[in-house]
Amino acid sequence: QEADEGRSSESYTEIISTLPREKGWTTEYMYQYQGFWYLSTTGVEGVMRVQKHFKARNEDILLATLPKSGTTWFKPLIFAIMNRGRCDFATHPVLTTSPHDLVPPLENYFHQNIAYPNLDSLSSPQLLFHTHISFTSLPQSVINSQGRIVYVCRNPKDVFVSTFYFLNRMADKNVEPLSVEEAFEQFCKGVSFYGPFWDHVLGYWKASLEWPERVLFMKYEDMKKDSPFHLKRLAEFMGCPFSSEEERQGVVHEILKLCSFENLSNLKVNNTGTFQLGTRKIGKHIFFRQGEVGDWRNHLTNDMVDRLNKIVEQKLSGSGLTF
Ligand code: A3P
Repeated sequence: QEADEGRSSESYTEIISTLPREKGWTTEYMYQYQGFWYLSTTGVEGVMRVQKHFKARNEDILLATLPKSGTTWFKPLIFAIMNRGRCDFATHPVLTTSPHDLVPPLENYFHQNIAYPNLDSLSSPQLLFHTHISFTSLPQSVINSQGRIVYVCRNPKDVFVSTFYFLNRMADKNVEPLSVEEAFEQFCKGVSFYGPFWDHVLGYWKASLEWPERVLFMKYEDMKKDSPFHLKRLAEFMGCPFSSEEERQGVVHEILKLCSFENLSNLKVNNTGTFQLGTRKIGKHIFFRQGEVGDWRNHLTNDMVDRLNKIVEQKLSGSGLTF
């Protein structure tokens, strides 16, 4: 186990105790670190440890997302694109391994209670990592490397609804969860899971404009609307485009079918058992709810929609990014 260069858990706790905090949606407090909000002190500590220890490699792919933007979908999609020569669709690892075990969040690799992996010793030519960390808080080694970043975002109204239901399903038993109206207030103030939403998306949006060959900016809704087109775009960006022979053989279609909401959510590996998120265990099934675009229509009032639309429009104005 790599030593943490003398930095003890206590010293992280000391720094974290000075951070701004707000009432959490389903936890006692959320903490703000480098401008972004984390669910717990463990969440912040995870980010600090990633910043200190993660060594990016030029070959690797980093999938970055704001929680509830379709991470559970894009992890197996990218994994299947990367490993398509090595895996048979009938016995594919995606069928027997949860997306979050297949591609754990970086924040989990460097969690305080586990042995840090020696990433230098991994022999695979290309690895896939995932993080929810904002662009501005990424470890310096990611910025300095030539590694590629795939960023996936989703419209803020669906992100809000999906987050609300997700956090309620993993709520601390001793904490009264916020009502939907209170959580919405917090979301509008930017106090949300890895939020503010607009700062998270803008960080990666600007990076994708500045370094288009290194940062691919994708939307959940686009992948839903024209999956084959966007899957091919993703493979091209990753440096492994589908050949016309593969397209003729239906590989694009096979990957999309393998990773569809219907297929993944019905797999035993995804609807039973638990997943370690920081210090807590959460049911794997809660990563699958509806998997649709526009469910916000069933949950938000017209006033809420108008208000959030206006905030997002104002925050993104001039950037060229719209939802
Ligand atoms: P909903 O709560 O709107 O249903 P994340 O993985 O980033 O936490 O995002 C979770 C959201 O992605 C949930 O949205 C979940 O249902 C949806 N999702 C999970 N797997 C999916 C898939 N294979 N295709 C489309 N959406 C999926």
